[in-house]
Amino acid sequence: MSALLPLKNKKIILGITGSIAAYKACVLCRLLIKNGADVQVVMTPSACKLVGRDTLAALSGHPVPCDIFEDAGKIGHIAISKDADIAVVAPATAQTIAKLAHGFADNMLTAGLLAATCPIAIAPAMNVNMFRNQATQENLRILSRRGYYVMRPASGSLACGDTGEGRMPEPEDIMGFILSILNGSHAQRIGFEGRGALPSPKSPAELGQTRLLPRASGAGLKVIVTAGPTAEAIDPVRFITNRSSGRMGYAIAQAARERGASVVLISGPTALEAPEGVTRINVRSALDMLQAVEDNLAGCSVFIGCAAVSDYRCETIADQKISGREKGQTMTLKLVKNPDIAATVGKLEHGRPFTVGFAAETINGEEHAKAKLEEKNLDMIAMNYVNSTTQGFGSGSNELFVYDRDGLAAHLPLQSKQALAGELCDMIFTKAADGEKA
Ligand SMILES: Cc1cc2nc3c(=O)[nH]c(=O)nc-3n(C[C@H](O)[C@H](O)[C@H](O)COP(=O)(O)O)c2cc1C
Repeated sequence: MSALLPLKNKKIILGITGSIAAYKACVLCRLLIKNGADVQVVMTPSACKLVGRDTLAALSGHPVPCDIFEDAGKIGHIAISKDADIAVVAPATAQTIAKLAHGFADNMLTAGLLAATCPIAIAPAMNVNMFRNQATQENLRILSRRGYYVMRPASGSLACGDTGEGRMPEPEDIMGFILSILNGSHAQRIGFEGRGALPSPKSPAELGQTRLLPRASGAGLKVIVTAGPTAEAIDPVRFITNRSSGRMGYAIAQAARERGASVVLISGPTALEAPEGVTRINVRSALDMLQAVEDNLAGCSVFIGCAAVSDYRCETIADQKISGREKGQTMTLKLVKNPDIAATVGKLEHGRPFTVGFAAETINGEEHAKAKLEEKNLDMIAMNYVNSTTQGFGSGSNELFVYDRDGLAAHLPLQSKQALAGELCDMIFTKAADGEKA
């Protein structure tokens, strides 16, 4: 491929469907042509209502087919993709995704793609709840299994006013995706490829729907989650602790349970209620927490260390309350290091579960998270910044950077801890299952 025109001599079918993001397909069309491609645009009837067919014809230099019967003599729906190097549907609506998954051929695009033998990439674009709906997710899984290249939509504010996943990726990213497929270097780690790589829909309550199919990606797994702070006693009434509320860990326990796992939640002192169906074990100190983890490790498939465990404890704990009269102007507490619970689990020689740690950072997050992953022998680490009022300790929302042995596995943007927990569990269960198969 020419370095200057990486798409030179490539014929690309650009399928445009009836999404509000269809206008971005004009930019994509231009970009592909600028990079050397010969672009044949095919539009669905709905897409034609949102962007001008003549615009795309002018941009691409070719007539834009839409209706199968417009020029029936040529049997164009079969011919259209014959010599194409790749077809890309961008934006791909929920409707077209459903049609492709079930073999519908009711317009020029769906019929053309059914007859296509070239690689097909799709860039879903829709409202977040449409995207998360089990029907759409199932359809995407079907397409992935059949070898379609499915791009993960971007997250952020959507045209409909909602926030979340569902935005069509930027034209530059779609072009990069196409290039990686044509180069044979396609190995998107954060995507839908592979069995079960799709994030499961969020809880039915979030979807505003009645119960859909159970999400069973965690079925048969025993998962231990640690959550909350630890409290290190100074004397019978005083202790050292931190500002962890436990909300992230509790949300993870709930998400894992909702996905069918048997969950043991080992929790430091918090004001939270245990999620339904989760076994909670209350502890106070880091030593208690370690003991509870070790007591429950038998048969554990996944360990998620989300607790903010105190690094140090008092070397001696006074039997009686230290009285004010005994205290001078200063008081010295001698602290000794606590065991590292995540590292203890990560370094188990026998019966080691898939081990996930958390890193709460205020600076140099990536560097610190990667170092912890290595030092503690973790499979995955979720790093978040805790020096902001909108995320981290005590807040209802969070943003996570998830690293595994290969580097950044996902950036999960600022969202509710419940939504994050769901995405994280999906990643963990998929990875843990892949690890078992390997
Ligand atoms: C203004 C407008 C914007 C729309 N945006 C989307 C969208 O982003 N994603 C989607 O799946 N459907 C969207 N729809 C609904 C689709 O157009 C509708 O489901 C249609 O049947 C899709 O047909 P097609 O897939 O054949 O293009 C939108 C509809 C309208 C009127």
